[in-house]
Amino acid sequence: MVTRIKRVNSSKPMLRNSFPVLTRFSLGSRCSTSIVVWSLVGFLVMLHLYTLISHTDVQRQDTDIHKSHHPILRELEEVEEENILIPPPRKRSPRAVKRKPKRATNLIGEFLDENSHIRHVFFPTIKMAIDPMNEGGNDSFYYYPGRIWLDTEGNPIQAHGGGILYDERSKTYYWYGEYKNGPTYHAHKKGAARVDVIGVGCYSSKDLWTWKNEGIVLAAEEKNETHDLHKSNVLERPKVIYNDKTGKYVMWMHIDDANYTKASVGVAISDYPTGPFDYLYSKRPHGFDSRDMTIFKDDDGVAYLIYSSEDNSELHIGPLNQDYLDVTDVAKRILVGQHREAPALFKHEGTYYMITSGCTGWAPNEALAHAAESIMGPWETMGNPCIGGNKIFRLTTFFAQSTYVLPFPGLPGFFIFMADRWNPADLGDSRYVWLPLTVGGAADQPLEYSFGFPLWSRVSIYWHKRWKLPAQRSGF
Ligand code: DGJ
Repeated sequence: MVTRIKRVNSSKPMLRNSFPVLTRFSLGSRCSTSIVVWSLVGFLVMLHLYTLISHTDVQRQDTDIHKSHHPILRELEEVEEENILIPPPRKRSPRAVKRKPKRATNLIGEFLDENSHIRHVFFPTIKMAIDPMNEGGNDSFYYYPGRIWLDTEGNPIQAHGGGILYDERSKTYYWYGEYKNGPTYHAHKKGAARVDVIGVGCYSSKDLWTWKNEGIVLAAEEKNETHDLHKSNVLERPKVIYNDKTGKYVMWMHIDDANYTKASVGVAISDYPTGPFDYLYSKRPHGFDSRDMTIFKDDDGVAYLIYSSEDNSELHIGPLNQDYLDVTDVAKRILVGQHREAPALFKHEGTYYMITSGCTGWAPNEALAHAAESIMGPWETMGNPCIGGNKIFRLTTFFAQSTYVLPFPGLPGFFIFMADRWNPADLGDSRYVWLPLTVGGAADQPLEYSFGFPLWSRVSIYWHKRWKLPAQRSGF
C-alpha cells in the first residue's frame, strides 16, 4: 500500500503534499483502487478490533475459568507471603574486622553466606527431609521446596538440572538429572565451583512424590581422560524424550570441559527408560557454542533443541531430525541480546511458553517468562512469573533456577515448575524447588509485537512453603 501511494504521488508532483485520499478521489479510475485500498484498511482495522475484543473475551473467560477452578486449585494460586528476619550483625572484634569483610546484611547475602545464622531457612537440615517412606498422615504428598528429598531407600534424591519423562508404556514418571556428589572444588582459582562427573541419575515414580532410585543410567568415564564423560569434565541438564518411530529413549545433555570452553551438546540412547544409555557423541549444534540447554517434544512428534549460545547472549532453537539423534540445519536465534539460560519450555493451548534465568553462575537471579505463537519464534518476553514469597524471593526465583516445566495430566493450564536451589559450597547438597505454575489471565507487561497481537496469557509461579498436587487430595 505504501509503495502504491508513493507511485501515485510521484507521477503527480503538484499533488505531492496533498492528502492521499483526496489525491485518489480526484484521479478518475484510480478512485476505485483507493476505495478498494481503504476498504481493505478498514476491514483490517475492524478485524484487528474484533480479534482484540474476542481475545480479551477468551482471556476473560480464561480468567473466569481460573477463578472458578476447584477450591483446591484456587488454594495453589493463593499468594503466600514469606517473612524472613535477617539476624542483626554480630559484634566483631577489631581483629576480625581486619581479617574478614563485613557480613552480608541482605537476604541474598545471607543465602550466599555459608556461615549465615539463617542458613537452615534456605537449606533445612536432614532432620526436616521429605521422607515419603516414613511420612505418616499429615505430611503425605506434601512438597516442601528447599528441603532434602529422600528416595524410597532413604537417600537424598540426586537429579539436579533435571527433567521428567512420562513413559506412556509403563505409565511411570522418570526423573533424570545430574548425580552430584563428592567434594565441591574449584578446578582453577577463577573457575566455577564444580564436582566431578558421576553421571545421570534416574528415579521412577507413579505419584510424582515417592521416587525409587533406578541408578546411574549414564555413567562417567573414570580412566579415559579424552572421553567427554571423563569425571574431570562437565555433564549438565540431561533431558530424555521417547522417539515413537524408533522406539528409543534419547538423552540430550550439556557437555563441557571444566572451564566451560567446549560448550557442546551430548547425545545418548537406550532401549529402556532406566537405561543403560549408550553415549553417542558430542557436537557444537549448528556450529555454535551451546551451554545451558533443553529439549522439547511437540504434540506432532517433532522435537527441538533449545540452547544458550554466543556466550550466553542469546538462545538458539531448532528441530531435531526424525530419530532425535542430531539437529537439522534449521535453527533460529531467539531472545537475542537478552543473556538468558536454564530454558524450560512448555505448551498450553497451542501457545509455547518458556521460563529462563539470567546468567549468574550458581547464584540465583530473576526468572522471566516468554511466549511464542510458533516454537521457532518470534519469542516475546513477558516478565517475572514469580508470585508470593517476598520481593527478594521473587527477584531470585525463590532462590532457585529453572530446569523443567512438567504438564500436569488432566488439568490443562496447570504445571509443575521444577527448579534447582544450588548450593555452591556443596553442590551435591543442592535442593529442589517444585512449585505450581499456571497459565491464565492477562500478561502484566505491555507487548511490542505487531500492534499488540497477540495477547498472551500470564504465566504464574506461586510460592508455597508446602503444597501438594490436586490429584493427591481426597475429593478432587
Ligand atoms: C548456571 C547454569 O545454569 C548451570 O547449569 C551451571 O552451568 C552453572 N551456571 C555453572 O556456573
